[in-house]
Amino acid sequence: MAQFYLDSIQTPEALSQFGKLLDCTFPVPKGSHFFDDFPVWNSKLKVLRILRLGVFHGTELVSSAAVRMAELKGPNNTPLPVAILGAVATHPDWRGKGFASQTVNAAVEWARGEKAELVMLWGSEHALYQRLGFHLCGEQIQIPLNHVKLKVPLKEQVSSGWNRAIFSRMKQRAGGLVLQDNDQIWIEAHRNVEWYYTGPSENPTAYAGYGRGIDLNGMVHEWGGKPDSLFTLLKYLREKNPTSVLLASPKQLGSLGIPYEPTQIEYLCMAKSLNSNFTLTDLKGLWVWGLDAA
Ligand SMILES: CC(C)(COP(=O)(O)OP(=O)(O)OC[C@H]1O[C@@H](n2cnc3c(N)ncnc32)[C@H](O)[C@@H]1OP(=O)(O)O)[C@@H](O)C(=O)NCCC(=O)NCCS
Repeated sequence: MAQFYLDSIQTPEALSQFGKLLDCTFPVPKGSHFFDDFPVWNSKLKVLRILRLGVFHGTELVSSAAVRMAELKGPNNTPLPVAILGAVATHPDWRGKGFASQTVNAAVEWARGEKAELVMLWGSEHALYQRLGFHLCGEQIQIPLNHVKLKVPLKEQVSSGWNRAIFSRMKQRAGGLVLQDNDQIWIEAHRNVEWYYTGPSENPTAYAGYGRGIDLNGMVHEWGGKPDSLFTLLKYLREKNPTSVLLASPKQLGSLGIPYEPTQIEYLCMAKSLNSNFTLTDLKGLWVWGLDAA
């Protein structure tokens, strides 16, 4: 009788099973892969400070979770070490046996050892995660672009396609996760994000990332740059797809002069504090960008 055991996912065989497990448990369209939309968990990309772990039944991987360390731009720009959890999946034949609970708890313990102050995740299984000590927190607003008044004083050319100058611009963004040079490898590996920018390709005046595949469809989830140029981009995206939605924090909308109702504010994610000195209410305005929300 094969035994169940928890282990890291490291061998080529286990890593191949990891990709297949994620492809069959998430709503991945036929012919594409989970890693097309969540490349940060792909072992081929050599992301730093990351752990993939799973429950094995003999040599078969039946459940998985992955966790990585990052830094959040905290209050007064002090970086806060945080862990991001994702790729939580259990094969349909093995659900309801506590395997996801085991992998998530083990990932949290790894994060504690890495000195994370907070573990963050995005998922709809609130009951499961609440039982494991996570709470809904943070703030985001999804605002339909056709509800936004866009003043476009400039006539700027809009170009499409990824270029590395967009990453340099993303590094300057206020709030969210701190982007390091090494993060470029997984950000540019998203296969289903459409990138747009204004201005010269070597120094865009504004940029926007649109859509992703499995999630963030029809959403402008990464954006930044000079407000006038950004409005040009948003107007362009709205004309291209009238149902486009801007994903933002209330603070960002305020800084762009885009009005919203307090009732539009929704929770951003689930998080578990690993530091008794602060509670999640201390992070009331917590925000990260869409692509970081693995
Ligand atoms: C969500 C998912 C990962 C849960 O996996 P799982 O291994 O079945 O999770 P667990 O067994 O730890 O917990 C599931 C439920 O089984 C219950 N359970 C845990 N151990 C149990 C046991 N020994 N006997 C019976 N029930 C048990 C838990 O109470 C839990 O109930 P809750 O949701 O009300 O808290 C799995 O359904 C899945 O892969 N879904 C598709 C992918 C996905 O959506 N992933 C999450 C993205 S963040």
